[in-house]
Amino acid sequence: MKKIFVLFLSATLLVSCGGDGKKEEEKNDSLKIGNSAETTDEVEDEEGVTKVYLTGSDQMKFNKNQITVNAGDEVVLTFEHVGKLPKETMGHNFVLLKKGTNVQEFGQEALEYKENDYIPENTDAIIVHTKMLGGGEKTQITFQAPEKGNYDYICSFPGHVALMKGILTVK
Ligand code: CO
Repeated sequence: MKKIFVLFLSATLLVSCGGDGKKEEEKNDSLKIGNSAETTDEVEDEEGVTKVYLTGSDQMKFNKNQITVNAGDEVVLTFEHVGKLPKETMGHNFVLLKKGTNVQEFGQEALEYKENDYIPENTDAIIVHTKMLGGGEKTQITFQAPEKGNYDYICSFPGHVALMKGILTVK
C-alpha cells in the first residue's frame, strides 16, 4: 500500500507540473513503471530509511540488477524467492560485497561452503548477506548503507553468480 501511495504522489506531482486533462492516463503510466522489473523503485518513505524489494526466480534471475540508496540510510531489504524450486537446486541469497572483491573468485570460494549455505567462513569480503532461500520463501535484513560508491551484489549459490549479480549504488 505504501508503495502505491508514493507512486500516486509522484503521479500527482507530474500532473501539477504537466498541465491539465491527462490525469488518469499519467497516473496509470506511473503505476505501470513502478511495477516494471527493469525499474529501480526503491522507496524512501521515512527520513533516512530506504525500502528495497528484491526477488530471485526459478529462471536464476534477480528482478533488478541495479539498486540505489542514499549514503547513511538504513536499508530495509526484503528478499523473496518467487519461484517454486527448492533451495537445494535453485537456492537464492543476496550477498553484498566490499569494493574491490573479485566476484568470480568469491563465487569460486563460496562453492566450498555448502554446509554454510555457500557463505564462506572467515571472509572479510562480505558487507551483509541474507540467508539462502528456496521457492516461496521470503526474508528481510536491515543494514546501514556503506560509504558512497558502487558495490557488487550476487547470489552465491553454485553457478548463479554468472546471472545473479547487480550493483548497489550508494549516492
Ligand atoms: Co541463486
